[in-house]
Amino acid sequence: MALRNILTQEDPSLGKKCREVTAFNQRLHQLLDDMAETLMHADGVGLAAPQVGVLRRAALVLETNVPENENPILIELINPVVIEASGEQHEAEGCLSVPGEYGIVSRPETVKVRAQDRFGNFFEVSGEGLTARCFCHEIDHLDGIVFTSKCERMLTDEELQAIQHRSEETED
Ligand code: NI
Repeated sequence: MALRNILTQEDPSLGKKCREVTAFNQRLHQLLDDMAETLMHADGVGLAAPQVGVLRRAALVLETNVPENENPILIELINPVVIEASGEQHEAEGCLSVPGEYGIVSRPETVKVRAQDRFGNFFEVSGEGLTARCFCHEIDHLDGIVFTSKCERMLTDEELQAIQHRSEETED
């Protein structure tokens, strides 16, 4: 495994629509392993392949809604599609590609995603709250959308300071 460089918003890779993954091979596994290491190193909750310069539909989401004493679960999403969405939330969102900036983004409260795993097997996974937001945020990345282009407003300095202590939870 190796750390990959996380591109920032200005990089053209982040504005491109990514292509489907068609080869579930060692190269994909290497990418996912490297992305996992990169995500953990950055203390984020999600990372999409274009953020490390790979224009393929692959992303990681950390499921943090787990019982106490249990570790968050890292979900690998290949070719993910939102198949159900309900409710609405307006929470502060950040991105590892937009360091230090947060904005309020409207997202569904719960979403169900259909995706493939690293071997090509289809599965469905649901998420709510932060996890739902993260699913949507990462899938947006695969379509070349960064949250700053769809947020209702950026947070003020005061609001920023208030969330600084929990920034690890909101950077995806
Ligand atoms: Ni992001």
